Amino acid sequence: MLILGIETSCDETSAAVVKDGREILSIVVASSEELHKKTGGIIPENAAREQIKSILPVIEEALLKASSNFANPPSNLQHLTSNIDAIAVTVGPGLIGSLLVGVETAKTLSYLWKKPIVPVNHLIGHIYANFVREKLKVPQFPAVALVASGGHTDLVLLEKHGELKWLGGTLDDAAGEAFDKTARILGLGFPGGPAIAAAAAKLKIKNDLPAMLRKAMQAGKLKIKLPRPLLDRNNFDFSFSGLKTAVLREVQKNPLIYSPNGLMTCALAHEVQEAITDVLVEKTLFAVKKYKVPTLLICGGVAANFRLREKFQQKIFDLNLDLDFFVPPIHLCTDNAAMIAGAAYFLNEKLPWHKISANPQLHF
Ligand code: KG4
Ligand code: ZN
Repeated sequence: MLILGIETSCDETSAAVVKDGREILSIVVASSEELHKKTGGIIPENAAREQIKSILPVIEEALLKASSNFANPPSNLQHLTSNIDAIAVTVGPGLIGSLLVGVETAKTLSYLWKKPIVPVNHLIGHIYANFVREKLKVPQFPAVALVASGGHTDLVLLEKHGELKWLGGTLDDAAGEAFDKTARILGLGFPGGPAIAAAAAKLKIKNDLPAMLRKAMQAGKLKIKLPRPLLDRNNFDFSFSGLKTAVLREVQKNPLIYSPNGLMTCALAHEVQEAITDVLVEKTLFAVKKYKVPTLLICGGVAANFRLREKFQQKIFDLNLDLDFFVPPIHLCTDNAAMIAGAAYFLNEKLPWHKISANPQLHF
């Protein structure tokens, strides 16, 4: 089965053609990230305008790339579109202006090509980034999934395709949002996750710090210790908004030592990353142990974080857990249409175009 996926929930415009939910024949992602760097964050109207500019070229490129898999050029594109079985589109959650671009385009193509649409929840789409991996084994159920993105931090229990139980999530800021907001306070730019990770990587604390700073740190004068919110509670609630307040307070206390490229900024970025990843790993593995699942799937933009991936692997090893741990490659962690087409294949809820609408508030 061939599915054309379309994803436009935020600042990425993406289209992909996926075969049987596992094999990516093409994937194209256009991001308006550069534009949002100038404003230090996403302004929804700007994101929607960029979606409009990109959507048709992105879909065309994805179709052309996928059609190169078929014989008989130049009719192969026509051959491909006539062989597409369904169009999958993200219907929410996300920014309404951005979502509408993908949803209305999908409906138009569905009407013209006479193909059904599969509406996909973006959060569930992220989970299926772990399934569009033809070379790996298919994840087995039951599974715990951690969805950690710019707008969401959720833990869910998957019993089978289409049957999931929401275990818990953030009470305030999402993990990605915590990266983004603390990066902004530290003057590290947007998006914050990769910026914090890069700053943290510059630091090998003990060896690289100038002697004066090292002494001050050793004497406890510059000790940076951020909270690990809600770790002491045996539940699946997360809370990350306190981190940004703690970072702000720290910077306001010692403004002179936190220059955007300085070592102390890197030290604080390092601690931000440690705090967020500690909480994500602990809470997720608590869910794995409580529900005794054989499979753990992590996904969403924050799953691109190298330190998070490393910590999960280390902890699973240290605890000797009998667990299949799946994490998508970096380009499938952030928003993309291959995961949407993958989810559509496994969920298979085909609908006619007039039954589809965008829902920015959609949840699990
Ligand atoms: O899943 P995603 O692309 O979009 C949403 O659905 O929100 O996630 C974007 C989020 C942003 O907050 C970004 O800072 C974060 O993922 N992110 C990262 C990394 N790459 C992206 N966070 C930590 N480390 C990264 N390497
Ligand atoms: Zn996302």
